[in-house]
Amino acid sequence: MITNDIIDPRSNDEILNEIDVNNIETENRISLETNNLNLWYGDFQALIDVNARVKSGLITGLIGPSGCGKSTLLRCFNRVNERYGNVTTTGQIKIMGKNIYDSDVCLPELRKAVGMVFQKPNPLPISVYENIVFGLRIHNEYNSLSRTEIDNLVELSLKEVFLWDSLKDKLKTKATNLQLEQQQKLCIARLLPLKPQIILMDEPCSALDASATRAVEELMKELAGRYTILIVTHNMAQARRISEECFFMLLGKIVESGQTEQMFVSPEDPRTDDYIAGRYA
Ligand SMILES: Nc1ncnc2c1ncn2[C@@H]1O[C@H](COP(=O)(O)OP(=O)(O)O)[C@@H](O)[C@H]1O
Ligand SMILES: [Mg+2]
Repeated sequence: MITNDIIDPRSNDEILNEIDVNNIETENRISLETNNLNLWYGDFQALIDVNARVKSGLITGLIGPSGCGKSTLLRCFNRVNERYGNVTTTGQIKIMGKNIYDSDVCLPELRKAVGMVFQKPNPLPISVYENIVFGLRIHNEYNSLSRTEIDNLVELSLKEVFLWDSLKDKLKTKATNLQLEQQQKLCIARLLPLKPQIILMDEPCSALDASATRAVEELMKELAGRYTILIVTHNMAQARRISEECFFMLLGKIVESGQTEQMFVSPEDPRTDDYIAGRYA
């Protein structure tokens, strides 16, 4: 559970507007950036000099063999790694131009702005409706909203992930009883009342069958533009179908990055070529 230990009195929008105005150009905006990022679990270095730029509004893929540090990198962006006690991080991480280790960064606000979706759909074993409003409750926003406002947020969030038509009469259904595709879409929907700017997805389709995978991919494409999406996938075809830009990681380092199509058609590094061609994992 996210603790409200550092509460910034300003609203999420106010903070992000301020960050927007102060730090970013309007063209080719960068939502996520790392500069010489290194991370150790105890003595083991899992990220080595990672310099990444993720453009706003795009779907960016993060690929590489198991254990190369993809999930670790993803977890850096909402400062979740530091929940593990033995983690040391050096270098810089910026979200919308703001260094997330600055002393004035409010962790709950950061985690609202940077939502995360996991491999296995993990809705809470409560109703569909309560799953959507859960984030508002833990961020202490629930009580400042009227019942109608909350109902509207639930409807809007479900519409945004194309679940409204199928679930509008099942809002009291326990979310864990839904089909897996619906569960994963619900896990995306429940981020939306918090107005995230960035959605991190860690192999979000690997528990889904082919048709559910396609449905979630279609959803991601709809969400792109309004949100910046960084998705870890071990499915090369998926990376190629949905991402505009891509990072290839190996043993804690980014080996190559750039436009996905370019990387798949003519990779610069022979190791990227090997991985894409299936000669690694
Ligand atoms: N909490 C942790 N404590 C210690 N080592 C970890 C932890 N999480 C991941 N690692 C190690 O860091 C490396 C990168 O892991 P991970 O980021 O999960 O890779 P990927 O997502 O690419 O499979 C692996 O060698 C893994 O064993
Ligand atoms: Mg992983």
